[in-house]
Amino acid sequence: MKVLVTGGAGFIGSNFIRLILQKYPEYHIVNLDKLTYAGNLDNLSDIEDNPHYQFVKGDITDSDLVDRILEEGADAIIHFAAESHVDRSLYDPGIFVKTNVLGTQVLLESALKYKIGSFIQVSTDEVYGSLSHEGSSTESSPLLPNSPYSASKASADLLVRSYHVTFGLPAIITRCTNNYGPYQFPEKLISLFITNALTNLSLPIYGDGLYVRDWIYVEDHCRALDKILHRGKAGEIYNIGGGNEKTNLEITRLILSKLNKPESLVKHVKDRPAHDRRYSLDCSKIGAELGWKPETAFEEGIARTVEWYASHQSWWQKVKSGEYLEYYEKHYLYR
Ligand SMILES: NC(=O)c1ccc[n+]([C@@H]2O[C@H](COP(=O)([O-])OP(=O)(O)OC[C@H]3O[C@@H](n4cnc5c(N)ncnc54)[C@H](O)[C@@H]3O)[C@@H](O)[C@H]2O)c1
Repeated sequence: MKVLVTGGAGFIGSNFIRLILQKYPEYHIVNLDKLTYAGNLDNLSDIEDNPHYQFVKGDITDSDLVDRILEEGADAIIHFAAESHVDRSLYDPGIFVKTNVLGTQVLLESALKYKIGSFIQVSTDEVYGSLSHEGSSTESSPLLPNSPYSASKASADLLVRSYHVTFGLPAIITRCTNNYGPYQFPEKLISLFITNALTNLSLPIYGDGLYVRDWIYVEDHCRALDKILHRGKAGEIYNIGGGNEKTNLEITRLILSKLNKPESLVKHVKDRPAHDRRYSLDCSKIGAELGWKPETAFEEGIARTVEWYASHQSWWQKVKSGEYLEYYEKHYLYR
């Protein structure tokens, strides 16, 4: 099988490529990535010489380039490439629309032209919007995105649906909860807080810290995508979650305790506008239809993740410099 992975130099995409090449050494992967601030070829340095792996630096909004890649043939596209950070979408919504919406449409158009057998849109639970303290979103819940990030992902999801319904493109949408694990750019809660704590920097918690997210270890998400690639049904949507709903404060305390660091590192900062209170997914469909369930208990995943960042300081110290510091100084998320 030959698979075009978009955004494979990012966090989840790089973990996915590694999993696929380990499990199916005969498969071919083409990784199309623009290498934005979040894309990092160091994430894949262990497989860069694998003859079954090819990296193409480029933008998914470049239709000529996407056509040239697909002209050479592909059985499936797994579409990870995106601007992925909610906070950044508050400062620069335009790039989210360009990459996440227009970029997805370019891929869909090209997938149709070259009769690609399966298009998998990797989306997020954030498209369902905020929930109160009970209940969970199913695949048929309404889309009520509140941030420019989630609105751009929901828009892309709707385009994917339309290409399936109108043109018969064999497309599937997946919606996953918050991922954590190795190679996550240190701007998201867990990777930022572990790396800040390791260097005794403060951990900036928005508002009261009682925002609830469900957390999934990245390899479990990648295993779900593997199942969907091989057994998912065109036209379907699959929710994917870890079954670990936690408040930001609970996670922060766990990280501090694993690293033996004091609670005085926690710093409450002004809340993010329109901060969604809680996300929660009903993941019974993927369990019942594809037999997938998460394998990594939260405590175990966090222990592995803390250990990974502690033993890969050169990876994140290289990333956490230059423009990174300028950005966080400006938006003061870093303090
Ligand atoms: N991280 C999560 O918790 C999470 C949860 C659910 C869904 N998702 C979705 O999964 C996907 C991957 O998320 P991630 O956390 O790995 O993101 P990431 O920010 O770590 O990686 C995104 C990758 O896309 C690349 N990219 C960005 N714009 C591009 C463009 N125009 N052309 C080509 N490449 C481009 C970047 O260089 C980077 O390598 C995203 O679509 C995101 O919406 C993420």
